[in-house]
Amino acid sequence: MAEPKSTELMEKIVSLCKRRGFIFQSSEIYGGLNGFWDYGPLGAELKRNIKETWWRAMTQQRDDVVGLEASIIMHPRIWEASGHTSTFSDLMVDCLLTKKRFRADQIEPQSGTAYFYSGAIDENANTKSSDPYSVLLPPGKPPESARKVASQFYHERGVEHPTLLGERTEKVERSTCYNPENGSLLTEPRPFNLMLKTYVGPVESEDNVSYLRPETAQAIFAQFKNVLEVARQKIPFGICQIGKAFRNEINPRNYTFRSREFEQMELEFFIRPDEAIEAICGIVATPGGPQPSALPPSPPASARPRRNEVEAGSPQPNWGWQMWHKYWVEERINYYESIGLPRSSLVEYWQKPEELAHYARATVDILYKFPFSKRDEKGELAGEELEGIAARSDFDLSQHQRFSGKPMTVFDEELKAAWAKLDDASKTGLLERYRESRLKYLSKMGDVTDKAEKQAREDAEAFTKGYYVPHVIEPSAGVDRLALALICSAYGEDRAPDEKGKLESRVVMRFHPRIAPIKVAVFPLLKNKPELVQKAKEIRDLLRPHLTVFYDEAGAIGRRYRRQDEAGTPFGVTVDFETLGEQGPELKDTVTLRERDSMKQQRVKISELAGLLIEKIR
Ligand code: GAP
Repeated sequence: MAEPKSTELMEKIVSLCKRRGFIFQSSEIYGGLNGFWDYGPLGAELKRNIKETWWRAMTQQRDDVVGLEASIIMHPRIWEASGHTSTFSDLMVDCLLTKKRFRADQIEPQSGTAYFYSGAIDENANTKSSDPYSVLLPPGKPPESARKVASQFYHERGVEHPTLLGERTEKVERSTCYNPENGSLLTEPRPFNLMLKTYVGPVESEDNVSYLRPETAQAIFAQFKNVLEVARQKIPFGICQIGKAFRNEINPRNYTFRSREFEQMELEFFIRPDEAIEAICGIVATPGGPQPSALPPSPPASARPRRNEVEAGSPQPNWGWQMWHKYWVEERINYYESIGLPRSSLVEYWQKPEELAHYARATVDILYKFPFSKRDEKGELAGEELEGIAARSDFDLSQHQRFSGKPMTVFDEELKAAWAKLDDASKTGLLERYRESRLKYLSKMGDVTDKAEKQAREDAEAFTKGYYVPHVIEPSAGVDRLALALICSAYGEDRAPDEKGKLESRVVMRFHPRIAPIKVAVFPLLKNKPELVQKAKEIRDLLRPHLTVFYDEAGAIGRRYRRQDEAGTPFGVTVDFETLGEQGPELKDTVTLRERDSMKQQRVKISELAGLLIEKIR
């Protein structure tokens, strides 16, 4: 079948999600609420499976990562320390006519003729506005359209029957100053904080302002010391969390892709600073081959640490932050592949130096080629962010140390022991590098020079005794974006035979069995044969402790298969007269097992069914 076009494909996906109960608009009966979504029966199962596979891969199957489940509302100082109160904002612009708000970076550049006005007057009513205003018309539109929009603008400002003043025109190329929907001038861009505010306690005062967390990560930093104490872990180790996050996005868009309420799956993986690794191991392992362009320029050779270039494999004690970063990028891509997103549908995007957050040493975005993604110059889908993997230095814990006044340093026995054995030149070099990196951080955060220098010297002194603030690698993914990517990736159309063998078109969701909402459907061939129904129910009950099972007896068997194909159920079990032994003893207590993708059917003994399915699904 021909591939449907991107927008057509998205429309089909959105329609299927509603029809089959993956995703509903939140508060739909009241007209919906922009940026909020609900997951129906199949969507809820899909999300649970995503979270479970992530949790298993990130913590249960590893020795070096533990979990956390923190509250959504936290002390407001956390958001001051993290920088969210002052800098977590998007630049937004408002339409001067309709007041509609846009993200400044999402305005498509437009060309045409701009009509400028110096004001408007209503001589009869003796009212006037001297507000300058302009309207952009695309080529070919008559001047009257601009005058109509401008008249509406001045009307809104109290000039009931406006006569426009000072009209002049100018050719404009690729301007982002006008509303693409009506040509009206937009306001200047201004920052808009994305955190959702609330008040804790009975008094709605500024003292009681709190925020719904915009990311789950900060709770991990705030609880770092508590977890370290109880988890019997040493650096390097990680803390992961899954949970809701909220952002008052200016323009929620692309279905669930940019929502105002969503779920994140985040890991903060704490590592030694490179200076500590060098002191302990003598050398810091870095990724072999050419350095990614996103890495900051190398320091002068004299100040450069001693490095040993190797490939990322299983973690080694001499790994520096670059190795850990590369390792986590690989781990995350492997995870996506393990749940059915082919590597060819993903893009590993290394942020350019000018795109990096000020504290980040490197960030890799893993993009998925959604049908609504922009296309690159070759016409290929460029991809949209599923996950960001950032090397965040020691910024986060250092910030919480400064704001809370509580030490976030760890004591590293191995560093202390190794330091004592270093020669004087190595000690001086490492001490100086560590002091400089602390000074850089403290100065950047606005500490006055004397104070910053004193603190950096103290930090370096503590380092020689085995104390440091851990650095962190942060893989941060969105559950909802991943659910949408999996739905888009699974969607397919092909042809399948009906019960009479006639080919008909079918929609099939080819979910990987690991994340499929329902793993197996059980069907009695006929609903009105009590023996078939009873046997099918026995099989349902046999499988249910191990797998998500759906029992369906309504309608022709072909229609039941089609319904499960649309739900993405990878296996179907049919109980027929052979199962009852009516066609001879050799097929008694066997069933037909149908595979969704190949539509192949095989006879399987009921006693072997659970084991077989569990193996295919795990
Ligand atoms: N702690 C780092 C952090 O929060 P982010 O890039 O802002 O980084 C991480 O968010 C992930 O959370 C994104 O890659 C995306 O999957 C998801 N995410 C962020 N904003 C979202 C939104 N408005 N709607 C849905 N998912 C979102």
